[in-house]
Amino acid sequence: MSSYLQDIDRARVPAHVAIVMDGNGRWAQQRGLPRTEGHGAGEEALADTVEGGVEAGLKWLTVYAFSTENWQRPPAEVLYLMNFNRNLLRTRRDRFHELNVRIRFTGRRDWRVPRSVLREIRDAEELTRENTGMTLTIAFNYGGRAEIVDAVKQILREHGRKKIRIESLSDKAISERLYYPDMPDPDLLIRTSGEQRISNFLLWEAAYAELWFTPVLWPDFSREHLYEAIRDYQKRSRRFGGVADD
Ligand code: IPE
Ligand code: IPE
Ligand code: MG
Repeated sequence: MSSYLQDIDRARVPAHVAIVMDGNGRWAQQRGLPRTEGHGAGEEALADTVEGGVEAGLKWLTVYAFSTENWQRPPAEVLYLMNFNRNLLRTRRDRFHELNVRIRFTGRRDWRVPRSVLREIRDAEELTRENTGMTLTIAFNYGGRAEIVDAVKQILREHGRKKIRIESLSDKAISERLYYPDMPDPDLLIRTSGEQRISNFLLWEAAYAELWFTPVLWPDFSREHLYEAIRDYQKRSRRFGGVADD
């Protein structure tokens, strides 16, 4: 059994951990490799983090795989990432299924996402739908702003031609129309590669998330880093705008 896992208070494991998997390009560049090699190398890190999350008793894990802004990257890199994510699903879904992991995708399933990727997403979700262990949500073509805009559009759509009562708009009205209203807000948000920013990830949901940053580049990340983050999280005092319990 790993050292850090033993130090985790099992009664206080965060319900939901979210990760910005960053630094693939720099990892590759440091080795004189094309950026895309870094994305490939990140696959093992994700697999290990998922297994480690299950081992620690995590119920929700959300990972940022492709943002609504990542379309700005060179077309060859975008294409690589599309194929990569499709293949990742194909190769890992059986193992994740075995681990009782429920796979979900969050993001806009719009025309820019190739049909073959959408099909793979649907298959993975279908296969693992009934699983009761950890929910692994993969944020793909996801943007926090887009999600909020989509929630507001949904509210307007529901009203149709009727006039909307402005007072009826509330936090709850928006929360209930996010992509997965049943998903609890993340308790702990991890970002690798030393960058200390949100980059449009879970903007609404992360309002009170504890942030944890590490210089480790994503391909070098493993379950031990996840445990280190959880240990750090367990030392924090969360107040949600109130005062501490004691
Ligand atoms: C994260 O690594 C993966 C994606 C954004 C898809 P990057 O590709 O952003 O790597 P860096 O930040 O350029 O090193
Ligand atoms: C955030 O990383 C998106 C993903 C990890 C998928 P980026 O590398 O795109 O973010 P910036 O450009 O450094 O803010
Ligand atoms: Mg990056």
